[in-house]
Amino acid sequence: MISKGSPWYEYAVQTRPAPGRPEGAVDRMEWGTCPGAGPGAEVLGRSLRGRRVLELGCGQGQNAAHLAERHHAQVTAVDLVDLQIQHARERYGEVPGLTLLACDAMRFLQHTETVFDIVYSVFGAVGLVDPRPLLAAIARRLRPHGLLGFSVPHPGRPGAGATSGPQPRHGTIRLPDGSRHPVARWELSVADWRRALPRSGMRTVTVRELGHPGRTHPTALLVIARRN
Ligand SMILES: C[S@@+](CC[C@H](N)C(=O)[O-])C[C@H]1O[C@@H](n2cnc3c(N)ncnc32)[C@H](O)[C@@H]1O
Repeated sequence: MISKGSPWYEYAVQTRPAPGRPEGAVDRMEWGTCPGAGPGAEVLGRSLRGRRVLELGCGQGQNAAHLAERHHAQVTAVDLVDLQIQHARERYGEVPGLTLLACDAMRFLQHTETVFDIVYSVFGAVGLVDPRPLLAAIARRLRPHGLLGFSVPHPGRPGAGATSGPQPRHGTIRLPDGSRHPVARWELSVADWRRALPRSGMRTVTVRELGHPGRTHPTALLVIARRN
């Protein structure tokens, strides 16, 4: 259970959606920092109908709801913070094919018996959890040739710095009220992601840098890999 005062709990509190009727799914999936720009759900495959899809660190569930409602995937979306899952259920609890669960990503992967076609994370658990055990756990729950897609903050953005080795960087999240909270981040360079994936029985398919209008540096990395 994530307690009040912890960074991701405060994030859930401060990004709480406005009260109102449950919403329909958003029109597109977002991987980067600029809504409406960059790739969408097509990077996960041509047809997602009936695919078993897992999101790790879903926040309010907008991408998971999009994949379930618009692409007819069978989506399980987990987030560490139960308040975040409560918000996701308020918004998208009625979406057919979408299951929302409050659970740590590693814990979920270790206990589920489902084999997924696709696992993905959008600024979620990948990058916020030690990648060596996490990638291995993901590979164990992916079918052969199944797809892993994840976006992470770009390790070369100003103020960051790629981590090497097992220790995370002491990063922060900035909340809407302007406060900054410490979070551990594993910010691997492109070369280190390319090295880490094969150690877990996966191979890199593409790595893309995603930008943001008005910013001179790329803001995110989008990595697509496949299980061997
Ligand atoms: C920056 S938010 C991104 C949320 C969502 N993917 C999006 O694009 O809006 C990161 C999310 O990851 C969740 N998270 C952090 N560590 C996690 C973990 N170990 N397992 C599952 N979720 C985690 C946080 O609670 C938070 O909702």
